Amino acid sequence: MIEWKSSQFPVPYPLVVVVSGNSPNPSTYIFYGQFNEHPPVIGIGIKKKRHTYKLIKETGDFTVNFVGRDMLRGADAAGMVSGRRADKSNFFPWTASSTIKAPIIETAPLALEAVYLQEVQFTDHLIILGEVKKIWAKEGVKPQDFILATYRPMAYFVLGEKIQDWGFSGGKP
Ligand SMILES: Cc1cc2nc3c(=O)[nH]c(=O)nc-3n(C[C@H](O)[C@H](O)[C@H](O)COP(=O)(O)O)c2cc1C
Repeated sequence: MIEWKSSQFPVPYPLVVVVSGNSPNPSTYIFYGQFNEHPPVIGIGIKKKRHTYKLIKETGDFTVNFVGRDMLRGADAAGMVSGRRADKSNFFPWTASSTIKAPIIETAPLALEAVYLQEVQFTDHLIILGEVKKIWAKEGVKPQDFILATYRPMAYFVLGEKIQDWGFSGGKP
């Protein structure tokens, strides 16, 4: 093994678009994770200066939209431009959420309605934790529909072939 010198790892990260605000502001995140099942609790690693952070604190809710192939250009653009300077409300087609104010992206393979729970501040990012109130999935959704990102190389990927089922080892190495 050699020591890896960067703090951005060469692993797949889930690619999500977070939508916040009343005039919807989409922005793109790879620092995404799930931390509880019942109810689902998710977290986004976000810099405080993001317009998204300000909007989530104002309204108390947001949606997390996983990125499908037909959303990639919009997702890339939403991660290049800040809602502080530009109106991004025409970057995607929207559908109203059922429990919160922020809308979901109509074409997302999977979309979560979340309410703000709490945050944990670090040095350059903070984690916003949200409780998921509703989950929407495109009919017939498949793992291959989702786009992942890697850092170093900074590029977008799709999932490859399935190689085994969970538990196939029967606990024997
Ligand atoms: C592929 C990609 C992944 C990103 N991941 C994150 C992330 O995890 N955390 C973060 O704070 N910013 C991330 N960004 C940067 C924000 O999306 C970007 O600064 C965006 O313009 C913020 O928009 P806003 O100011 O309207 O919230 C990412 C950008 C791209 C293109």
